[in-house]
Amino acid sequence: MVRLGVIGYGGRIHGVIEHNLRQLDPDIRVVGVVDPDEAGVRNRLAACDRDGARFYPDLAALVKQGRIDALAIGTRCNLHTPYAIQAAGYDLPLFLEKPVATDMRQAAALEKAFARSRCRVVVSFPLRVSPLCALARDYLAGGAVGDPIHVTAVNYVPYGTIYWEAEYRNWGITQGLFLQKATHDFDYLMYLMDAPIVRVAAMRTVGKVFGGRKKAGLVCSQCREQDACLESPANRRRHGTSGDHGDHRCVFSTDCGSAAAGTLNEDCSSALIEFAGGAHGVYTQVFYSRRDAASRGATVSGYQGTVSFDWYTNELHRVRHHAPFSATERAGEGASHFGGDLELARDFLALIRGATRSRTPIETGIQSVYACLAAKSAAETGRFVAVRQLS
Ligand SMILES: NC(=O)c1ccc[n+]([C@@H]2O[C@H](COP(=O)([O-])OP(=O)(O)OC[C@H]3O[C@@H](n4cnc5c(N)ncnc54)[C@H](O)[C@@H]3O)[C@@H](O)[C@H]2O)c1
Repeated sequence: MVRLGVIGYGGRIHGVIEHNLRQLDPDIRVVGVVDPDEAGVRNRLAACDRDGARFYPDLAALVKQGRIDALAIGTRCNLHTPYAIQAAGYDLPLFLEKPVATDMRQAAALEKAFARSRCRVVVSFPLRVSPLCALARDYLAGGAVGDPIHVTAVNYVPYGTIYWEAEYRNWGITQGLFLQKATHDFDYLMYLMDAPIVRVAAMRTVGKVFGGRKKAGLVCSQCREQDACLESPANRRRHGTSGDHGDHRCVFSTDCGSAAAGTLNEDCSSALIEFAGGAHGVYTQVFYSRRDAASRGATVSGYQGTVSFDWYTNELHRVRHHAPFSATERAGEGASHFGGDLELARDFLALIRGATRSRTPIETGIQSVYACLAAKSAAETGRFVAVRQLS
């Protein structure tokens, strides 16, 4: 039996444990938790964990008394670094949620802490390890496009209202959507291109769609505009659009943050990215897309060919530029994060059983944060920003 300790037992880590880790190892048990919301966690815990899980005041007590085999950190974004730095002091396999840091001070401290650590990490980057991305990487590594010279990557997010109606709207916690969302995409792009991002220019559009002047604390049930508002529960249900279909917080409220103060998540943002070795690309993320507008994936090209894939259509296309052949491959369906969460669970269990290598080690999380921070800074200043590199 694997004895797991969890710091921040929220919705995301519960899903990973319940639907992915337990699918591969039904005997895994949550035996220790650090989380101030004990009642909420007890509600969330699976039946098989309820009796055995003990609550501890901090990570040191959990490690000292919990006899755990591994740790998972599933708090909200701003707490990933402080807890991960503590975890670096123990020789326990660690599953760490993304983004691994939310500012440069945190990211640099994390790099320093892990430079001397024996703690092996699976950073929660499901896209990099998803079978479709792995297939694309195989083709690229096999020379399908020759030297990769350019990449176009898009993320038309069909569930983007969570960034204005859920805790993600709290700027102090997330620091914007490059860190929150693009951390995944920059990571898989560096993997595909087999090179770190070294320079970024970026732009963000804020306050054109979400955020606004509706009063603080407003929820739909207290709003006079429920009939007309496209985001009301009734209208979301009628139109088959995503988002909370129950009474929810207003996505046009002052609570979402202030564009003037730079504390409002962007409706969309884009980055022009340069990779070590000279290839370049563009990445765009759009958060007001709905329904069939969903699209996430990349097109990588070189002189010899083009490889493109999209996780929503679950298809990969290969075009040979200098031979009369093109091919389309379809991936299997139905797995969370396009099969990536199951792969992360596989990697984490392998670490627990003694494997020494993770496909998403701490370095991938930190390097991605460095690229996201450069994009954030570039969007704020209108300048190209050099990306800090892991030392
Ligand atoms: N990798 C992915 O694809 C993916 C997907 C979704 C969410 N996430 C990330 O997962 C993280 C958690 O998201 P969520 O939706 O599960 O949030 P959540 O609010 O459901 O969970 C956070 C948990 O942390 C607990 N917590 C609060 N303060 C704490 C403290 N000081 N010490 C310990 N625990 C504390 C809360 O009580 C809660 O149980 C976010 O950072 C998000 O970016 C990643």
